[in-house]
This record gives sequence, C-alpha cells and structure tokens, in this order.
Amino acid sequence: MLRIGVAYDILRWEERAIADALRRNGAEPQLIHLRNTFIELGRGEWPELVLQRSISHSVASESASALESAGVTVVNGSLPILLSNDKLLTASILSRAGVPTPRTVAAFTPEDTLKAADTIGYPVVLKPVNGSWGRMVAKARDEEELRALLDHRLYVPGINSQVFLIQEYIEKPGRDIRVFVIGEDVPAAIYRVSDHWITNTARGGRAEAAEVDEELRELAIRVAEAMGADILGIDVFEDPRRGYVVNEVNAVPEFKNTVRATGHPIHERIAEYAVELARR
Ligand SMILES: Nc1ncnc2c1ncn2[C@@H]1O[C@H](COP(=O)(O)OP(=O)(O)O)[C@@H](O)[C@H]1O
Ligand SMILES: [Mg+2]
Repeated sequence: MLRIGVAYDILRWEERAIADALRRNGAEPQLIHLRNTFIELGRGEWPELVLQRSISHSVASESASALESAGVTVVNGSLPILLSNDKLLTASILSRAGVPTPRTVAAFTPEDTLKAADTIGYPVVLKPVNGSWGRMVAKARDEEELRALLDHRLYVPGINSQVFLIQEYIEKPGRDIRVFVIGEDVPAAIYRVSDHWITNTARGGRAEAAEVDEELRELAIRVAEAMGADILGIDVFEDPRRGYVVNEVNAVPEFKNTVRATGHPIHERIAEYAVELARR
C-alpha cells in the first residue's frame, strides 16, 4: 500500500483531516511526530513522500531538508519553506517575478529605516521578517511613532534587530484575502474581515467565503511558481488603486477556517495531490 508521511509537531484539526483524506484516497498515512524522532542525513526508512505540517518555522524547514537528504520528496520542499518563513526574501522573490506586492523597503539601521519611511510616505508598516499570526506588525503614522517602534524593536528578544522591513500601508476595504493553491489548483479563498487593519484570524479576523476569480487564480499560480512551492496559503490585499497585491505566503497553511467558511475540503485536495505526486 502507498505510504505517505505527515510530519507534524502538534496534531491539529488540519493534520487529522489530511490523514483521514489520505486513507479515503487509497494511501496509508504515516504520522511522523517530529518531537519524538531523529533524522540521520542521507539514511533511514522514510515514506517516499512526506507532507510537511510542522507548526514551527525552523523545525519545518530543517526537518524537510534532513528528509530530502535521505531521498524523500517533501511537500513543501525545504527551500520554499525557508523562503516563505522570511517576509523579505518572499517579497524580493515575488518582486523579481513581477508579482505586485506592497511597496517594500529593506534597511539595516534604524536611521536608514527612518529615511526610507520618508521616501515611501506615512503611514508605514514595520514588521519582523520572520513573524506570524500578526505579532509585532505595527503601523507608524509619523516619524515620532516610527522612532518609538524602532527603539522598542532593539530590545525585543528573538527579533532580528539588524534587518528592518517597512512597507507602504495599503488602504484595504476592511478585509484581506487568503487564497489557497495546491499544485495547479486554486480551490478556495476566504476574506478575513476585521474592524482592525490587522486581519489575522488569530487576532480576531472573521473568515467569510470569497470567490476565486480568474485574476486571483492566475496570481496564485504565479506566486506558487515563483516560490517553487506546491501548496500555499497566500495573503492578498485589495489595493484601491492597483487591485490585487500579494503580502506574504504561508508554506504550512492552516485551513480549518477556510473549510468552515467555504465548505471546500482543502484537506481532500492536499491528499489527492500527494497521492498523485507519489504515484508519478
Ligand atoms: N502593508 C500593509 N498594509 C496594510 N495592512 C497590512 C500590511 N502589512 C500587514 N498588514 C496587515 O497585518 C496582517 C499581518 O501582517 P503579515 O505581514 O501578514 O504578518 P503575519 O505573518 O504575522 O501574518 C496582514 O494580514 C494584514 O491584515
Ligand atoms: Mg499574514
């Protein structure tokens, strides 16, 4: 029987749903608990294909890479996971690929960040290159606020205090889009609706079904290609002037809220895709 690995560190609704869907698609899921195993480089009895579902950015990319050394196909691969874990690397790759993104600046000292903000124009958004769930994402309306944020950042442990990412603030219509791509398929999207400009569901954003129009579909495929990723959750803003702009991507996306809001079984798609890849 076809064995497909599911690497995880916390078994959430998503991982259980994927495992069940694998069984329905004729595969035997092999759950790989990353906090209860070790991977010797270049060796070991692993399934030929492993779905990466670790909630930890570093565990996800490092374990993917270690498994790849033993000849395993990991979905997503270690490189797209590494890239997507860093917002600056992601924005650079997308920018190079001609994907519309918010105007973004990389600076390496607080003073240069202040200069960059003048160039972009206030309000600006300051964010850590490696955050998630909306943590440490902040908006500065003027230089005084930005100075305070930068000051603060220097003393926050765990934040890379040498790399500063600032962006133009996009005036969104009270919502963002999260769109899913799985292989060549763009099965579903949600709006994250919120009274706050930070719309993460972890920060109180509500999920509502969104339509995937042709433009969004093509954009999602282009983003996945640029990132070299198989499966992505993509954050998209609706810029009143430019239309869709891509904010960031998540290479180990959560999707419970999307399944609830749209009725679309993302886990089923992921399982079908994995089985198809493994049988190739
Ligand atoms: N440049 C921006 N303009 C407007 N809203 C933004 C901008 N950057 C981030 N946001 C809001 O903040 C949220 C969190 O920022 P994001 O870059 O996605 O970091 P995280 O990895 O924490 O989700 C976004 O989903 C969006 O709602
Ligand atoms: Mg986000």
